[in-house]
Amino acid sequence: MRLYWKVVLINGAVLVAATLVLVFGPVSVSRQPAASEAAVLLPGLAVMLLANALLLRSSFRPVEKVVAEYDAMLERLEDERAASNAKALAAQEQERHRIAQELHDEVGQQLTVVLLGLKRIEQQLPPDLGEELATLRESVREGLDDVRRVARQLRPGVLEDLGLASALASLASDFAAQSPAAVQRQVAPGLPPLSPESELVVYRVAQEALTNAARHSGATSVVLCLSRVGGSVVLEVTDDGRGFDPTIAGAGLRGMQERARLVGADLTISSTRGATVVRLAVPVAA
Ligand SMILES: Nc1ncnc2c1ncn2[C@@H]1O[C@H](COP(=O)(O)OP(=O)(O)OP(=O)(O)O)[C@@H](O)[C@H]1O
Ligand SMILES: [Mg+2]
Repeated sequence: MRLYWKVVLINGAVLVAATLVLVFGPVSVSRQPAASEAAVLLPGLAVMLLANALLLRSSFRPVEKVVAEYDAMLERLEDERAASNAKALAAQEQERHRIAQELHDEVGQQLTVVLLGLKRIEQQLPPDLGEELATLRESVREGLDDVRRVARQLRPGVLEDLGLASALASLASDFAAQSPAAVQRQVAPGLPPLSPESELVVYRVAQEALTNAARHSGATSVVLCLSRVGGSVVLEVTDDGRGFDPTIAGAGLRGMQERARLVGADLTISSTRGATVVRLAVPVAA
């Protein structure tokens, strides 16, 4: 029987029982209820409420069981989703690491060999040909710089070697070199240390936020700020560009959210015309 009809039947049965007791029982209620009448009616009401509650409880028990199972299933699914995201992000980091190393060790080394060879030949050539070769050598050197920059962005080795503040400084100067916007960096001194995972999340969020500002915002000024607020280290990337609707997320914004969740950090994006703020608050381990 459907739950609705069960409840209607139970309530109906209790009310019918109460009515029968009132009609056929020794109870009567006068216009001005006397204390003796109240003494009979009130326990009667209590019995009625209790009977109703007990009868309804057994009807609702299966529903509560289903809801509890459903909640547990949702929780399990959420845990599995978070675990598989964590795995995917870890695999992505590993792959970036591998590609960065290959770029550095293979492409980078070969370009360096070409560069040295060109320099050697250049010295033996007549001046007019030497000039042409120098232009060629300059292109190879720029290519090598690009390879090193891409490798650095893929694997923030500077994060491991020099720490978060230096890694953010290097990100900011890469950004300044590629974007017409002026970038200002404000890193508070003496920030509490974060776990390597949290530092990587701060770095990746700053990287995506700066890339988005350069690609989409049309900003003239970008501020990258790292400070301590209460028990958290807070990263803020602010641009004065055209703004956007942050509820329509692409892979970049979703990636930031996923990474933040992995280390229990809180990511918020607020955006209006002229002020977009990406804010990441990472709790400092006690
Ligand atoms: N700082 C910003 N200013 C203006 N618009 C932005 C800014 N950041 C993001 N957006 C808008 O939000 C969209 C989604 O950003 P998201 O980073 O998720 O994706 P994407 O940058 O387009 O691609 P991907 O990051 O995957 O390479 C962007 O396409 C852009 O329209
Ligand atoms: Mg993006």
